Amino acid sequence: MNNNDYEQFIINIKNRTAIDLSLYKEAQMKRRLTSLHEKRGFQTFADYYRAMSNDEDLFNEFLERMTINVSEFFRNANRWDVLEKKILPRLLKENSRPKIWSAACSTGEEPYTLAMIMAQFMPLSQVSIFATDLDRMILERAKLGLYTDRSLKELPQSYLTKYFDKDPMGYKVNQEVKNAVKFKQQNLLADRFEDKYDLIVCRNVMIYFTEEAKNELYHKFSRALRPGGVLFVGSTEQIFNPATYHFETEDTFFYKKVGIQ
Ligand SMILES: C[S@@+](CC[C@H](N)C(=O)[O-])C[C@H]1O[C@@H](n2cnc3c(N)ncnc32)[C@H](O)[C@@H]1O
Repeated sequence: MNNNDYEQFIINIKNRTAIDLSLYKEAQMKRRLTSLHEKRGFQTFADYYRAMSNDEDLFNEFLERMTINVSEFFRNANRWDVLEKKILPRLLKENSRPKIWSAACSTGEEPYTLAMIMAQFMPLSQVSIFATDLDRMILERAKLGLYTDRSLKELPQSYLTKYFDKDPMGYKVNQEVKNAVKFKQQNLLADRFEDKYDLIVCRNVMIYFTEEAKNELYHKFSRALRPGGVLFVGSTEQIFNPATYHFETEDTFFYKKVGIQ
């Protein structure tokens, strides 16, 4: 296998799906996909792509491997505490019905965490969270809202009692919480964003993107926020030059949009 083989694969995938693998860190992505196509018995990316073009299961498996879907409720719990005690009270003072987006929401733990936290401030029936991910199949799992202990370990017991129903397979988010979240498929690296957000939560996906892709995305997030709005990123995703994107650090991993636009 040579580099051209992978480069041609990138072009084929982009033409077919609008997913641009060149915007993901190459070494990491290539390693993941090489081990996958070898496991399936293909010598080259060209053979793998040909097979995938006529085999939906193979394509879905590729998509599942390239998007890393691990998530959990209250991931890095102390940051969610800062969100609840410091960031949200300010945002709610400025807008009592904040516009909130969980970008790259995976299996739904993150937007449901947001909905449960918002319910500390207002009736759940008034809470509205927009949640998006690239991976359509993962969104179906998110809508189902069924979780096992692995993703529930940081969830406060009181939340488990209040917002989940016991299920033979684990715990299911109750209907009221589900109603507060609207899921939609979206590619952060290609699609247009809405604007006037008060809070955008985008965690544990930017680490997979190249510097150029990240740079462009920070600009897009900044434009999508209202002045005073906040971008909440993952705990390895500090922005080193926030001012470049009209951000200032409000707390660790929370960036407040400054300026008038
Ligand atoms: C590790 S999960 C993060 C889930 C959650 N935000 C968290 O922090 O627990 C990364 C998610 O990013 C999604 N993703 C990867 N590339 C994407 C893209 N270009 N646009 C939107 N979502 C993407 C994957 O499908 C995956 O569900």
